[in-house]
Amino acid sequence: MTPQDIPVALGSDHAGVALKATLCEALDQAGHPTLDMGTHGPESVDYPDFANAVAAAVLDGRARFGVLVCGTGIGISIAANRHPGIRCALVHDVTGARLSREHNDANILALGARVIGPEVALDALRAFLATPFAGGRHERRVRKLTPEWSPRP
Ligand code: RB5
Repeated sequence: MTPQDIPVALGSDHAGVALKATLCEALDQAGHPTLDMGTHGPESVDYPDFANAVAAAVLDGRARFGVLVCGTGIGISIAANRHPGIRCALVHDVTGARLSREHNDANILALGARVIGPEVALDALRAFLATPFAGGRHERRVRKLTPEWSPRP
């Protein structure tokens, strides 16, 4: 079992459900295992519930990374970042996605479905999953966020 065999957990509220489905399908097609933690329909739901589910999956090892989508990405990223050990990056472009991995060892990517389009979101997700943490001086800073941090395999 390689690290790439560990699923990516996805969660969204109603505003992010369509973009989440697009991202989930793209991951499936690329051969990445996924764990879709909802929501699954257009009914109005509360974004903290899905942020909490994805954060728990990342923290307990059921997921290697998380992806969260709400209207702006703001509420769902705030909720995820309330969990110690979660470093959720709200990103609007590929550069932010890449640097969130290189510098911050982000473990959840947050996206705003009402703010960016699906192509940008897909590019950001690909960059997020493909970019390793750079280490070096960034390790000291990440430890100040997460004292028990250690490099992932
Ligand atoms: C839901 O209407 C909306 O508030 C939510 O998706 C998100 O944008 C909150 O930050």
